[in-house]
Amino acid sequence: MMEIATYSQTCPTIFGTGAVKLIGEKAKELNITKAMIVTDEGLVKVGVAAKVEGLLKEAGIEVVIFDKVMPDPLDTVCNEGGEVARLEHVDGIVGLGGGSVMDAAKAINILTTNPAPISQWYERWDYKKGLPIILVPTTAGTGSENTIYGVITNSATGAKKVVLTTGTLAICDPELTYKLPPHLTASTGMDVFAHAAESMTTIVTNPMTTMLSFDAIRKVTKWLPVAYREPTNIEARENMMLASNFAGIAFSNTCCHLGHAISQCMGAAFHVPHGISCAWALPETMAFAAIGKFEEVKGVADALGVEYSDSDSPQVLGKKVADNMRAFMKSMDIKSIADYGITKEQLVGIADMIMADNCWPFIPSPLTKAELEEILVKVYDNYK
Ligand SMILES: NC(=O)c1ccc[n+]([C@@H]2O[C@H](COP(=O)([O-])OP(=O)(O)OC[C@H]3O[C@@H](n4cnc5c(N)ncnc54)[C@H](O)[C@@H]3O)[C@@H](O)[C@H]2O)c1
Ligand SMILES: [Fe+2]
Repeated sequence: MMEIATYSQTCPTIFGTGAVKLIGEKAKELNITKAMIVTDEGLVKVGVAAKVEGLLKEAGIEVVIFDKVMPDPLDTVCNEGGEVARLEHVDGIVGLGGGSVMDAAKAINILTTNPAPISQWYERWDYKKGLPIILVPTTAGTGSENTIYGVITNSATGAKKVVLTTGTLAICDPELTYKLPPHLTASTGMDVFAHAAESMTTIVTNPMTTMLSFDAIRKVTKWLPVAYREPTNIEARENMMLASNFAGIAFSNTCCHLGHAISQCMGAAFHVPHGISCAWALPETMAFAAIGKFEEVKGVADALGVEYSDSDSPQVLGKKVADNMRAFMKSMDIKSIADYGITKEQLVGIADMIMADNCWPFIPSPLTKAELEEILVKVYDNYK
């Protein structure tokens, strides 16, 4: 008998190449007359911000641009963005960018209707609803357009915290990812992979999330290497954008576990890109998950096309899956932890922080600090 499960999707989503052209019409349907586009300098530079600004203006909507978001957005930037939105009296927000921008936009939106600083709203739902907010991803990575999370770095402690909030509408247009350079295509794509594989093996899976994650893994393994080599390959970009969105819906329901606990803390401690630290942590996370979630890791192996036998032990299955993932990372030239100048001692040194991370409670079986440290050593040593 199946367990009773709850599953949801955060907001309606318009998907497809060219879909961003609908943004003016959709913003008007949401009664937006003056929008603040929250974005970053990278998207201004490649012309994506100007394109969306033009589309909104064509629809008769006034536009204010806030482009100060940096990767792993700080609470202070969100506080500043909230103040600009209030002073400008905007009546809608457009989050146009990768996860950093969409998360900052979500936090800024909370501050349009609630007092700053944003730090008082971490992990809470009891705030006044914000303005209509349209989330438009430009990476195929976080799935933030359809998650309940906004990941914000706390400037006082350096730790990553979450605000809990959703978009009003998501517009996923794969064409917006064409100018994403290969190394960012690979790293953000590995984030999708980690969301899907961790979502399939947490303590709270359900049939919808398993199906979405399974499909996301199949899409990533087939299409991420193509998108990496051919940035304007429509089919590859479409499939990666869908995979990102599916994996986002999945992990928004189930949370991630060990891999993201490690990755988020590596991001906070060593300032490495989120998708890269997700990639490093993923193979050993699956090797560990095979012990507590044997059948579910077989599902991951099926999605990957990894062959195994019914007599394989959890350890053997876990190693096969982990080895397959490491080869996949190598095929996209993902560098090692040592290449980023991080020592093994530094990595093992963040074990306490990892055990306090918000993804830690979702790990598939208990781990002592000593056992976690052993896994961290393997994370470091097994990918060179
Ligand atoms: N909210 C969630 O549910 C969730 C889930 C996973 C990760 N995250 C968070 O998301 C953040 C990472 O987001 P990300 O991996 O999407 O990267 P990002 O938003 O940090 O962007 C990385 C870089 O890519 C550039 N870029 C983005 N789109 C581009 C495009 N189309 N063309 C050219 N350059 C482009 C940006 O300018 C930036 O310099 C982290 O803070 C992570 O913690 C959030
Ligand atoms: Fe992630």
